Amino acid sequence: MQVVSTVAELRARLADERAIAFVPTMGNLHEGHLNLMRLARGHGNCVVASIFVNPLQFGPNEDFEKYPRTLEADCAKLQSLADVVFVPSINEMYPAQQTVFVELPQIANELDGASRPGHFRGMATVVLKLLNIVQPHTALFGKKDYQQLHIIRQLVAQLNLPVRIIGGETVRAADGLALSSRNQYLSKAERGEAVFLYQMLQGMRLAILQGERDFERLQQQAVEVMSARGWAVDYVVVRNQSDLLPPGVVQGSQAQRDLVILAAARLGNTRLLDNVEVCLVD
Ligand code: PAF
Repeated sequence: MQVVSTVAELRARLADERAIAFVPTMGNLHEGHLNLMRLARGHGNCVVASIFVNPLQFGPNEDFEKYPRTLEADCAKLQSLADVVFVPSINEMYPAQQTVFVELPQIANELDGASRPGHFRGMATVVLKLLNIVQPHTALFGKKDYQQLHIIRQLVAQLNLPVRIIGGETVRAADGLALSSRNQYLSKAERGEAVFLYQMLQGMRLAILQGERDFERLQQQAVEVMSARGWAVDYVVVRNQSDLLPPGVVQGSQAQRDLVILAAARLGNTRLLDNVEVCLVD
């Protein structure tokens, strides 16, 4: 495994590679990332990971400064999984002030975009830069960040980027909590409660599978239950998988059958997000 930190070095290393599979990360790697790395091996002869905590996608009051940076441990975890690890500095990625950004569709201002203004613009801009730098055939992202994955798919499709995007399933702790770098901010008591987010999503999924179609009521009940348990809820919504709009709103009167329940909420100072897919069969 080779670790490179400049764009020039990376381009020279990858010049003769014909099938590159790429996993962009912000480091502090957990089993969710490593799962993507293993998946990547099936999609390319050369597997590249990047580790870059992207300042553009953090708001002024967010955790950019305290975001865990664990480069040595990350490289040890990648040793048998990556051929190349790209670890650029902020200056390497942004040698001048970044004044060119990706303009995103309205969905980027909703849900996480409403709670974190500018987040998806910064994320999409760095992802576009990384895709241009690495020029992979396939890039892999986790489904835990479902809205991010949706926006990246739109970016790639609408800007005709020659890369295939693959979404990896969310990896969970034994009790069901979705793995996330931010889980380590949780206190012991918060960690105990955190799994309730997934349990609640599973409860909503079951209700829908059993015939519940009043999604507004389901969403409202979820917010009430979570608030009563001490969560500060940003959103709990049932949406179409395809466009992340409320079911039935688009594409004529035919209601969509592949849904996803998305939630984001804070426990103390830690913001957690999760989702579950629901496919209607009736
Ligand atoms: O999901 C992440 O870790 C980041 O948003 C990404 C895709 C690496 C861009 O900085």
